[in-house]
Amino acid sequence: MRITPVENKLFGAVVTEVNFSNLSNNDFDALQAALLDYGFLAFPELFPSDEDSIAFGKRFGNLEFAATSVLSNQEVDENRSAGQVLDMDSQRMRMIVGNSFWHTDSTYQPHSAKCGMLSAVVIPEQGGGTALADTRSAYATLDQATKDRVENLSAYHSNQYSQANDLGDFPDIQPGTIYHGEAYLRPLVKVHPETGVKSLIIGRHAFGIPGLARDEGRELLQLLLDHVVSDEARVYEHSYQPGDLLFWDNRALMHRALPYDYTKPRIVIATRIAGDESEFAYNPSDTAAQTGREALANELAALREETSDRQYQATTASSKAVVL
Ligand SMILES: [Fe+2]
Repeated sequence: MRITPVENKLFGAVVTEVNFSNLSNNDFDALQAALLDYGFLAFPELFPSDEDSIAFGKRFGNLEFAATSVLSNQEVDENRSAGQVLDMDSQRMRMIVGNSFWHTDSTYQPHSAKCGMLSAVVIPEQGGGTALADTRSAYATLDQATKDRVENLSAYHSNQYSQANDLGDFPDIQPGTIYHGEAYLRPLVKVHPETGVKSLIIGRHAFGIPGLARDEGRELLQLLLDHVVSDEARVYEHSYQPGDLLFWDNRALMHRALPYDYTKPRIVIATRIAGDESEFAYNPSDTAAQTGREALANELAALREETSDRQYQATTASSKAVVL
């Protein structure tokens, strides 16, 4: 097995000559160490079976979901054959378009995710890749005044906020889905539970910094995001070949889907490893949840007035098909 750092970047490594379906403990240990160090691992043309992807993911922790193809812009049958392209106005397609903005997975759930895994099945000729950004080096390179400013600040996270803010999409609240009406408060600065390295937890789901005025909070989050992507050395864009597997540490990086012609097929299999205690905010039944719920309701009311110029013009999808 070879682990080669990505050239000209501050993070990322490429893994080749790996026996993925029969991974030795030594090789697994090396991959785990490399993940913590490099932040993401790319396995070119690995063609992993679902079983192997799931088994690999489970070595890192419990799975949030396993080998689902929800990231396709088409109806996909059990043989992974692509069917009808989704309507751009459908809730699923709105979610897929939303994934093209920088984010950290599942920060809008009680536990944000530990790691993400994508493997490519069908990729359009142009676009459709995944971009990753290193929020550890972003934090490390903030000036001291900004570090001091963000040290004790937190932001709420909600997928309803990000859909409204980025796209003018206002899905109805549906308990049990990702549109649950809750917002989870998370520190802007995360201390990695395994490495102790600090990173920024920001991205599209983050809003409403307690203690700051709305405009001030929005400005700060934008400033931090701009800083993360201001250095090419901490942004990597992966253009998939079929069979590629990408695995990243959600506690150290942000990512986004690179846009493509949404009438062309794209099927990417996603597996996600659930966060543990360090990724936990609170449960909806906890009293702490009430302020988040209220902050979200207020924010959405403001965005209703402000987002009629966005892609979905402050509307709700005609199709209610919601995936987790
Ligand atoms: Fe994602």
